[in-house]
Amino acid sequence: MSIVTAKEIMLEAAEGKYAVGAFNITNLIQMEAVVEAAVEKKAPLIIQTSVTPSKFLGLEILVSIYRILAESAPIPICLHLDHSTSVEYCKQCADAGYTNIMIDASKQAYEENISQTKEVVEYCHGIGGISVEGELGTVSGVEDQVKVAEDEAALCNPEQAVEFVERTSVDIFAPAIGTAHGVYKTKNPKVDFERLGKINQMLNGNGIKTPLVVHGGTGLSKEYAIKLVEMGGAKFNVSTELKRTMIDATYDYISENREQYNPGKIDVVVKDAIRQVVARWIDILGSAGKA
Ligand code: 13P
Repeated sequence: MSIVTAKEIMLEAAEGKYAVGAFNITNLIQMEAVVEAAVEKKAPLIIQTSVTPSKFLGLEILVSIYRILAESAPIPICLHLDHSTSVEYCKQCADAGYTNIMIDASKQAYEENISQTKEVVEYCHGIGGISVEGELGTVSGVEDQVKVAEDEAALCNPEQAVEFVERTSVDIFAPAIGTAHGVYKTKNPKVDFERLGKINQMLNGNGIKTPLVVHGGTGLSKEYAIKLVEMGGAKFNVSTELKRTMIDATYDYISENREQYNPGKIDVVVKDAIRQVVARWIDILGSAGKA
């Protein structure tokens, strides 16, 4: 149906009290799997790449395939650059055709975070058709080149969040609330739901303007995810689970079919496994049937 920004589908999600699933992919089979699942579920979709896979695949190829898939799918699809710590690379991806850009200057001092985020916002808004995600506070764990130790992670201050959003004019906002990238060590990680609710109230209490993003989806229970959506999460990121699914499905297939040399069969198995993971998240996030 369409190539869209993250902001436009997230505004609808926030109004409708569901979240758009945002799934990190590292290759084209995963991209197709994610799109197929969302089409089956009639759900709006955000495809994400972090910096390393986007460089490996090449921006031109990546964006071309995204455009072909998005233009022919009967759902709105956004292509999001995840956690770029480089303003220059954000601009390059905006020029190439990404429709949402995340500048992650959350490890910088507050004023520097504002200045870098603002620069990316002004650039993307100048081009048009691109929304921008900024982050305040730090999400622990590892996502591509961004590594934050547990004891370094800082939760987002709600008053600062309002000032950050006002001063940067960022379109969508990721407050650190205790969720983490990678695999959680416990079944019930300490997530500050109330903080998310408070930030949402302060930013969007008088009408939704800046929808909120939840990072670190892998390993969160269905109950946690539902509560995060209730508290205002309108984009829900899942990365590690897809990577693990791909590797496990490949390993299982090869272990059982050691004498076969047909890579196409591995692709079919991997695609199907990823499709199932994405479909499950879409059901949990409540976005099925919303496209
Ligand atoms: P996980 O790898 O924990 O799913 O986190 C995904 C994420 O937040 C990407 O930005």
